Amino acid sequence: MVNLGVLVSGSGSNLQSIIDSIEAGTLEASVKVVITDNPEAYALERAKKHRIPSVVLHKKDYRTREEFDSAVVRELREHRVELVVLAGFMRIISPVMLEAFPMRIMNIHPSLLPAFPGLDVQRKALEHGVKFSGCTVHFVDGGLDSGPIIIQAVVPVLDADTPETLSKRILAEEHRIYPHAIRLFSEGRLNILGRRVFVEKGPEASGTMENPKITVPRS
Ligand code: GRF
Repeated sequence: MVNLGVLVSGSGSNLQSIIDSIEAGTLEASVKVVITDNPEAYALERAKKHRIPSVVLHKKDYRTREEFDSAVVRELREHRVELVVLAGFMRIISPVMLEAFPMRIMNIHPSLLPAFPGLDVQRKALEHGVKFSGCTVHFVDGGLDSGPIIIQAVVPVLDADTPETLSKRILAEEHRIYPHAIRLFSEGRLNILGRRVFVEKGPEASGTMENPKITVPRS
């Protein structure tokens, strides 16, 4: 069992997949607080619906990123958070938060890192002409989408894809692997050695989460 603090800025579909996994009994965790920098985030509605406390922190109330992050850390500590889950949180994490939660901050990114870090990555993947893309769950370090990789999932890139259709295919995989990565953490099965994260074997079918069978959808 692990106490989560989920940081969001937008729709919160990944937050939803985590809540759904907890409610379905496939993830032993508890979302103690949802924190956002965006008062309009739909993720707030999702938190409310599931009676999860939420906190809105306004950028303009803080002079620096460090001051903002100190406020986030205060909230996380107050809610006894053990693992910080970034789920579409559109801010760079400062050393203040990294030091408060060393290798205790996870992020999900919609590409096969280290390809295409940053923003607008589905468009960049299409422009580059890659044949496969996917998503990556990783621990957060001081760089841009650069921390140790926990798990990845692969999807094909189709000729007719637009950034929207590719995003949708990737998002479906995000919703599958993010709760699984959190579960691996909560079961103490992630061993970090330098840049590499080794996953201790568990009861699930070996390898299926890390290397999904690739099926080419018709559309
Ligand atoms: C996802 O594509 C995630 O990979 C990226 O931001 C998006 C968040 O989507 N970091 P949602 O708010 O969880 O629907």
